[in-house]
Amino acid sequence: MKERIEQLGQQFRNSLLGVTDTESLEELRLQFMSKKGYITELMKELGKVPNEQKKDVGQMINTFKQEITDQFDRKKEELIRLQEEALIKGAESYDESLPTNDPNGSYHPITLVQRELEDIFESMGFDIEDYSEVVTDFECFEAVNIPPFHPARDMQDTYYLTSKDQLLKSHTSAAQNAILRKYGDDLKKKGRPIRAVFPGRCFRNEAVDASHDNTFFQMEGMMVDKDISISNLIYFMKTMLSEVFGREVTVRLRPGFFPFVEPGFELDIKCLNCGGTGCPSCGNSGWLELCPCGMIHPNVLKLGGINSDEDPFEYTGFAFGLGLTRLAMMKYGVRDIRTFNDCDLNALSQFVSR
Ligand code: FA5
Repeated sequence: MKERIEQLGQQFRNSLLGVTDTESLEELRLQFMSKKGYITELMKELGKVPNEQKKDVGQMINTFKQEITDQFDRKKEELIRLQEEALIKGAESYDESLPTNDPNGSYHPITLVQRELEDIFESMGFDIEDYSEVVTDFECFEAVNIPPFHPARDMQDTYYLTSKDQLLKSHTSAAQNAILRKYGDDLKKKGRPIRAVFPGRCFRNEAVDASHDNTFFQMEGMMVDKDISISNLIYFMKTMLSEVFGREVTVRLRPGFFPFVEPGFELDIKCLNCGGTGCPSCGNSGWLELCPCGMIHPNVLKLGGINSDEDPFEYTGFAFGLGLTRLAMMKYGVRDIRTFNDCDLNALSQFVSR
């Protein structure tokens, strides 16, 4: 028996040397380890071994079985690694010179609108800022005058992360405090007005319909200096809208409540999809809420380190929160906001110049 085991061991090692792929490795495994394989054969032979030798021979068979199992596992790992390396090295590499069905690709309509607005505001002296999507409760709410348990929190339900105090920002106003702090010194020491826009993705736990999505884009804007008034706000809003649409659009300004502005306004645009008669895009009202705005609340300027308790009106400013996704809807005649996140290339590529 001992000789037979040694001879089978040699046979296994020789065969293993010649194995170059997982299929032939499996064949070898079956030869030795299947129900009809050599190991089973050895176990049957064990029955014929005299009783006093059974224990030793049994142990030899088990050791042999363990050895070939280990060698088999090592070989399998090696073959898989080699296969992966070959794939990476180029057996299936990507050839950039090959033609594709859509060689040009296209920008997402929201990217196009965002870039256009960035150009417009940049030409008016605004800085373009970026801000994270995961923010703290302080940034999203407290810093913009919405303390814990304030009823205004109900206006924007969002998604909270399991890690303490973090959430997906429900509005771009979550960056206001950081922007005020970033540019505050230049304002106070060098007299450089704060003028910044900051586009970003927002998230809300929302009942989704043709004009509300749970993930959408806004572009926030702020201007802070001495003697900034509502006239400045209206001037910038008018310029922005006439530039972006390049045609006459009807807007209306009405009072609106947001804890971070006083006074606050809703700036609505007459629905360009139905001309104001009412359709699903505008919730059948004929108007679409597009760009709420107002004069920045003194508490926000104080929390942003701009004004002191002694002179809470030393600097004043306006802020707005433009619904970028809704603007893209109006500009491109998109009737349902969900089109933007559907990843339907046929739909998305038809609005845009390449
Ligand atoms: C705000 O988010 C305020 N932070 C805006 C603001 C900033 C006001 C600065 C004053 C000063 P509101 O929740 O209304 O406000 O959202 C602003 C705009 O974002 C809306 O007018 C709309 O155009 C867009 N918007 C809001 N919710 C959604 C949604 N679920 N889907 C698509 N667009 C939305």
